[in-house]
Amino acid sequence: MTSNLFTSIALRGTTVPNRIWMAPMCQYSAEATGPATGVPNDWHVQHYGARATGGPGLILVEATAVAPEGRISPYDLGIWNDAQVEGHRRLTAFMRDQGVVPGIQIAHAGRKASTDSEAHGGGSLDPDRGGWEPVAPSAIAFSGGHAVPHELSADEVRGVVTAFADAARRSLDAGYEVIEVHAAHGYLLHEFLSPVSNRREDAYGGDFENRARLPLEIADAVRATVGEQVPVLFRLSATDWIEPEGWTADQTVRLAALLREHGVDLIDVSTGGNVPDARIPSGPGYQVPFAERIRHETGMPTGAVGIITEVQQAEKILADGGADVVLLGRELLRNPYWPRQAAHELGDPHPLPRQYRRAERRPA
Ligand code: FNR
Repeated sequence: MTSNLFTSIALRGTTVPNRIWMAPMCQYSAEATGPATGVPNDWHVQHYGARATGGPGLILVEATAVAPEGRISPYDLGIWNDAQVEGHRRLTAFMRDQGVVPGIQIAHAGRKASTDSEAHGGGSLDPDRGGWEPVAPSAIAFSGGHAVPHELSADEVRGVVTAFADAARRSLDAGYEVIEVHAAHGYLLHEFLSPVSNRREDAYGGDFENRARLPLEIADAVRATVGEQVPVLFRLSATDWIEPEGWTADQTVRLAALLREHGVDLIDVSTGGNVPDARIPSGPGYQVPFAERIRHETGMPTGAVGIITEVQQAEKILADGGADVVLLGRELLRNPYWPRQAAHELGDPHPLPRQYRRAERRPA
């Protein structure tokens, strides 16, 4: 009998061959300036190529900025111009060749933009060191180490909607078959959702409906851009981990139900990122209960992510109805072949790339 992990899943016009998906993970490895700014390069080709030969059902390429000022760091990938589209084609062509569905996370970092990459020491980057002024729902810095952002005008908020829709169009041009909107981890859309970071008094701030307005407008605009056949996912932080204040699990459930009505096909369920000193009880599968709750209370398919590292653990999450798919992050950095090893352990067929067929038969 086929395992849960290796049962395909259909979302709109796309069938994903298995339920082990690669979580989006920034590489901070693109050029920061010049014509190749934000363009996938040899590092990205090798990194995603190695994971593709490992055989996950779908790869979500890292947070890719919809606009230059939406980059977390100057080294982020982008998808706001044609040179970037061309670079992304190198990634999607190889994924497809390996039978992996190419997906992309489109993102705007909001008030957490313009920071240096960890490899360069991290921290806020001033404009005179290659940074820029970040933007946000309100002029409230994420932390003492972050710049105070510019409060977006209502017109500028509409510009953000257009930027996400344009990024979705370019993503399809680049060969991506699944679009994930990043609305988690304290980046721009999460900042609008959470009362911690959104103190606006216009139609985009205040009560739940107003705080949810921008993500829902983006869901509509992306859906209108990609048509009816392309799956659209949202990554949400299910809680700010300061309940009952902040963004809460109850509000996430409400939002998930609305996103479903607005044409979203799956919620990729993470947590946190909008409050620097929140206490997060992390441990194996610690975010699964949020994915399970959303799935049961709204009927919306969900993905579970966060310290999922063992084959039987992942299989059990699906078997118990905790989620529809699992996403693996760091484990796939450690071991790109995890999906193939899982198939072997579970007795599911998962043939190696044709070039490696002579390695199919293991020594007795
Ligand atoms: C991440 N994570 C992340 N999340 C996201 O939504 N977009 C991103 O671009 C990134 N970037 C990123 C880079 C690196 C190096 C790591 C380790 C993590 C979070 C990631 O997708 C995932 O949710 C967490 O890592 C938890 O899952 P694991 O690693 O415990 O399987």
